[in-house]
Amino acid sequence: MVNEYITRRTKLIEKLPNNSISIIFGGSEIRKSADEAFKFQIDYNLYYLTGVKQAETILVFIKKENVAKTLLFIQKFDELKEKWTGIRLKEDEAREISGIKEILFSEDFSKELKNIVKEFDKVSFGLDYESAANYGNFDKFISVCEYKDILSKEFANVDFFNIGDELKLLRMVKSDYEIEELRKAIHNTNRGLIEILKKLEPNKYEYEMAALFKYIISLDNSKLSFNTIAASGKNATILHYPDPIDKMKDGDLLLLDLGSDHNEYKADISRTYPINGKFSEMQRKIYEIVLNCNKHIIEIIKPGLTIKVLQEETKRFMADKLIELNLINNPDEIIKYYYHNVSHHLGLDTHDISLRELPLVKGNVITVEPGLYIKELGIGIRIEDDVLVTEDGSECLSKEIIKEINDIESIMK
Ligand code: GLY
Ligand code: MN
Ligand code: MN
Repeated sequence: MVNEYITRRTKLIEKLPNNSISIIFGGSEIRKSADEAFKFQIDYNLYYLTGVKQAETILVFIKKENVAKTLLFIQKFDELKEKWTGIRLKEDEAREISGIKEILFSEDFSKELKNIVKEFDKVSFGLDYESAANYGNFDKFISVCEYKDILSKEFANVDFFNIGDELKLLRMVKSDYEIEELRKAIHNTNRGLIEILKKLEPNKYEYEMAALFKYIISLDNSKLSFNTIAASGKNATILHYPDPIDKMKDGDLLLLDLGSDHNEYKADISRTYPINGKFSEMQRKIYEIVLNCNKHIIEIIKPGLTIKVLQEETKRFMADKLIELNLINNPDEIIKYYYHNVSHHLGLDTHDISLRELPLVKGNVITVEPGLYIKELGIGIRIEDDVLVTEDGSECLSKEIIKEINDIESIMK
């Protein structure tokens, strides 16, 4: 694994300008109550480049005359804190995980930075402005932008540049290791969905299905990619239906949008099942439009296409079919029943950072998630797969997760 992080850093360093210092903050814990913090989430750019998940970690690249030095600042080991809240990294462990030799302490970060800047006549600071989760680590929370102000006041002769796009370009192209992690996350998601198919029946509650999924994936020591969406009947027309509380009715569909995480890599899958085990005539018609659209988009994906083109094709495909069913009269009306995007990049984040307007290249992983939401019929259907862009086409990473009507109905029998 350590080689993976070293390769990623080498690629980033190549892109950094000379006479620059780039800083990536891992973030700080946020207090929830007197004796508890919110669960800490490492900034994924820092994790991507180091493998470290601990709060108050800061990664620094110093590039001078084409030679780069990498520093990693971590919290000083504190035995008492470890006794209260769990295992903490020691310097050697941080070195071993990340492959970075120079480990320093976060509490010395400001002091060290001043020393480093002294070596330059003029220096540029590289920061990632958009990463909202990035916080400076000092004794209060400060955002990257506030940090920029502090740096400008503190140091004369500095300017700033954004390393956000370089990080996006790197993270958009998945390595073989990352693709394997995604495959495992998707496989575990399937285990959860199969259990749901076996237990799904009228008069159970949406939250039972969400809880069952969480339980099954936890058997693989995995956590949720995001809060499970389990929306029955017309609830499924709310895209991010937040609280699954309703009793599931005989004759309705259940839309599930969920995923398991594997080593921080996220599956993001949607499936829609008939609660009583059999699709009605109308449900079947709408389901087949969405399913055929899902398959069509997966089929056409190849390097060079943009997500925008996939979106236009999705709208065109489903509009034609809805006109045939007399649900709409002209193609522009499709946005009444389909009101989101068909794809986003997937990886460490469910909506992974990306320059989404760029043409697809080999190694991108995107979702394909057409949906139709017809409130007046109480029907909401989304079918979402996770797809790898290959040299000359695509591979559906979630092809093992059943989506044909016959397969769903026979497993539910
Ligand atoms: N789960 C959110 C999405 O599918 O994009
Ligand atoms: Mn989803
Ligand atoms: Mn998605």
